[in-house]
Amino acid sequence: MALRRIAQIGHPVLRRRADELTPDALAAPEIQRLIDDMIETMRDVGGAGIAAPQVYESLRICVVEVKNNPRYPYKPEIPLTVLVNPEIRATGDELFDQYEGCLSVPELRGLVPRHALIDVRALDRQGRPVSFAARGFTAGVYQHEVDHLDGRLFLDRVADPASLTTLREYERHHLPAYLAYAESVVARYGP
Ligand code: NI
Repeated sequence: MALRRIAQIGHPVLRRRADELTPDALAAPEIQRLIDDMIETMRDVGGAGIAAPQVYESLRICVVEVKNNPRYPYKPEIPLTVLVNPEIRATGDELFDQYEGCLSVPELRGLVPRHALIDVRALDRQGRPVSFAARGFTAGVYQHEVDHLDGRLFLDRVADPASLTTLREYERHHLPAYLAYAESVVARYGP
């Protein structure tokens, strides 16, 4: 396994629609190695998820894991999940506001409205179909990662640009109030 470099906003790979994988392509050793590297890189930099375009591979693969993440102290834990060719469908009209950051957008956080209730369909890393429902912050994490596969960054979805903040100013001026809101989101949708 190896750490990969992370593409930064402005690099075209982040703005391209990434390519689907066939089950045969997914089984190739270099793609399985890419998935291992994505997991290692996500853990090394403390991300809640990472998508293949963020490591310069324009493929529809993302990995997610939230475990005591100091970047997101209010987020419920998500076990390590690898999604290939994922599709997301909102299962209701409910939205919630999520402060988002991104490994490809250094220093910034912004408030993004996300669907609170979604269904996810994908292949796992062995090429087996998986489907599950996700709610609240967990649903928000998946929406952020799948956006990367469509060339979209959270900045595109920030409803009010006045919510943009550096991490330092976020922690000083916005996190305390947001923690109370985040608690209500967790109470409503569960971990
Ligand atoms: Ni991101």
